[in-house]
Amino acid sequence: MRIDLYFTPGQTDELALRDRTVVVIDVLRASTTIIAALSNGAREIIPVATVESAVKISGNLFGDVILLGGERNGRMIDGFNLGNSPAEYTGERVKGKAIIFSTTNGSQALVKARYARELFVCGFVNMGTVADALWQTPRDFTIVCAGNDGVLSMEDTVCAGMLVSRVAAGGGLDPELSDGALVARTLHRTFGRGILKMIRSSDHGRRLLEIGFGEDLKFCAGVDTLPVLPLLEGNVIKLRNDAEKKETVDQSQEP
Ligand code: MLT
Repeated sequence: MRIDLYFTPGQTDELALRDRTVVVIDVLRASTTIIAALSNGAREIIPVATVESAVKISGNLFGDVILLGGERNGRMIDGFNLGNSPAEYTGERVKGKAIIFSTTNGSQALVKARYARELFVCGFVNMGTVADALWQTPRDFTIVCAGNDGVLSMEDTVCAGMLVSRVAAGGGLDPELSDGALVARTLHRTFGRGILKMIRSSDHGRRLLEIGFGEDLKFCAGVDTLPVLPLLEGNVIKLRNDAEKKETVDQSQEP
């Protein structure tokens, strides 16, 4: 097993990620919000790169089951139903809904990796579930960190390092690590004991604190609090069990 890692989506491209197993990490806050929404019963998340595409797609879909979520500059987008705080995505708001989702960095990483053979969404909150899925079926995989406006972000890198360590520990494996994966694992060894402290002192964490989203930092720093596995299927992200159920039903309907 080999683990590759990109610190930002700009370091790779669609072709390099095509047909690979990919894990996308955007701790603050897109990954965590997607995981929270699905965990609270959202039917699916449709990641899109631009606000214009989000509005266009929502116009073509059936109104009362669709919500628009996401942010620009950290704040809810005009005309959208939800911002990018994971705590907003309660069962009451999102159960049974499809959410068209656009954020500054996270959805760009997801869109870039859309031709992956399989794509998992990971944050601290579902770390163990993603790690288990990866070591239980060992194969090479690539971690794509969303970063922050085109540069490395501390919280994504430390989260990636935790994933590298957990995958190796879970399966008793000794994976070959790219330099990026090695750096991430080393950073996690240094900062992993104080996740919230590390997040609070990161560039993105400080910015979110300044604009009043301190509670989100606590949510995003929780480890293994939401044990679900979001998986991109086609253009939508669903929980793995839901995606598998649909596949089984589709197959059983084949003539
Ligand atoms: C992003 O995708 O850029 C982030 O989730 C931004 C944010 O913290 O809202």
